[in-house]
Amino acid sequence: MIETNNLPKHVAIIMDGNGRWAKAKGKNRVFGHRSGTQAVKKIVEKSAEMGIDYLTLYAFSTENWDRPKTEVSSLMDLLIKALRRELDKMLSNNIQLRSIGDISQLPAEVEKELKDTIEKTSKNSGMVLTLALNYGARQELTQAIQEISRKVKNNIISPENVDETIINEHLYTRNLPGVDLLIRTSGEQRISNFLLWQIAYAELYFSTVLWPDFNEEHFRTAIDSYKKRERRFGKTSEQLTN
Ligand code: FPP
Repeated sequence: MIETNNLPKHVAIIMDGNGRWAKAKGKNRVFGHRSGTQAVKKIVEKSAEMGIDYLTLYAFSTENWDRPKTEVSSLMDLLIKALRRELDKMLSNNIQLRSIGDISQLPAEVEKELKDTIEKTSKNSGMVLTLALNYGARQELTQAIQEISRKVKNNIISPENVDETIINEHLYTRNLPGVDLLIRTSGEQRISNFLLWQIAYAELYFSTVLWPDFNEEHFRTAIDSYKKRERRFGKTSEQLTN
C-alpha cells in the first residue's frame, strides 16, 4: 500500500554485518554476502511498494578494495548476477536504477552490466534505486572541489558564486534530494564515509540486526521511527507548529 503521510522521500542504507552473520553460522564471508543480496531484494521491493521515492544502498566503498581479493571478486560476481536476475523485476516494478561512485574503476564486466541496466531502466518513473559502488564521500567531495576549482581558474564560475547549489551540482548525487533517513544495520554506529554532505539533516537509525536478517518488518520499524520524529532543520519546535 502506498502511504504518503510523513514518509521519508530519500532513504539511504549502510548494509552492514554480512561477515559476522556468516561467521556465526560457521560459513565463509561470501556466504554472508550472498544472503545479503536476498535482503537487498526484499528491502528494494518493500520500499517500492511503500512509495519511497529514492533508495540509496552502500554496496561497495572505496575502502572495500582492501579486502581479500577473493571476497572482492565474489562481491563483483554477486553484483553482476543480481543485476541480470533482477532486471525484469525492476522493469515490472517501474524502478529506475542509478549509481554513484567512480564506476570506471570497477571490473569492465561489472561496469558494462551496470551501465546496460541503468540504460534499460532509465525510462522508468517509479522509485529511483541508487547503488553506491566504489563510492567514498571524501573522494566525491575531492573530485567536486577539483572540478569547481578548474571552472574558477577558467573564469566559468567566480569564487563568490560558489554556493551550496553549485557544490550539489558537482556531486554524484546531483539529481537526488538530500537524505531524509539513514539506516545502518549490525549495531555499528558510524557513517563510514557515506554521503557526508547529503546527510546534513538526515535522521539516523541504527539497528542491531545483521544485514542478511534485516527484513520488511525491521524496515517498517525504521520508517515508523522516522515518522514519529520532529525534523526541525535548525528551527524551534514552536516555529514549526505555528
Ligand atoms: C557489509 O558487511 C557489506 C558489504 C561490504 C557489501 C554489501 C553487499 C551486499 C549486501 C551484496 C551485494 C549487493 C547488491 C546491491 C546486490 P561486512 O562484510 O562489512 O560485514 P561484517 O562487518 O560483519 O564483516
